[in-house]
Amino acid sequence: MSFSKILKDTANKVLVIHGPNLNMLGKREPEIYGPLSLSDIDSKLRSLASEIGVHVSTMQSNSEAEIIDAIQKEHYDVLIINPAAYTHTSIAIRDAISAAGKPVIEVHLSNIHKREEFRRKSYIAEVASGQISGFGADSYLLALRAAKNLLFNK
Ligand code: DQA
Repeated sequence: MSFSKILKDTANKVLVIHGPNLNMLGKREPEIYGPLSLSDIDSKLRSLASEIGVHVSTMQSNSEAEIIDAIQKEHYDVLIINPAAYTHTSIAIRDAISAAGKPVIEVHLSNIHKREEFRRKSYIAEVASGQISGFGADSYLLALRAAKNLLFNK
C-alpha cells in the first residue's frame, strides 16, 4: 500500500466549527476575545495541523441549523466546536453531537466560568470529551493537540 493511501485511510480528520458571531473576531470585543481574526485563527490551525500530522477543515456559521447539518453530514473523526452563544441555549446542537457519537472537544476563547452567570451553563460539556476555555486563540490550538492525541490514542 502506498504511503499516500495509508495517510488517506488513517482516521485523522478534524473538523472545526466556529459558531455565531465568531466571524466578527478581531473587531468584536477584542478585550474579551482577543485581537486575531477568524482567518488568523484558521491559519494557525492549518499550520499546527501540518506540523502534527492531522487533517483539519474549518467552517463558521451563524445558523444553528447549518451547524447541526454539518455535525450530521460532514466527514470527520474528531470535532472541535466553539458553539459560541449556542453553548448556553442549544439542546438541538447537544443532541446532534450525541447522535454523531464522535469525540468532541468544546472550545471557548474566553473563560466562560469567570463571566456572567448565564455563560456558566454549557449544554455541550455533558456530551464532550472535554472543554478548553479561556486561552484565547490558544484554546483552539490546545484542542487540536488534544484531538491528535485522541486520534492516535496517547
Ligand atoms: C464564546 C463564549 C460565549 O459565551 C459567547 O457567546 C461567544 C464566544 C468564547 O469563545 O469565549 O460568542 O464561546
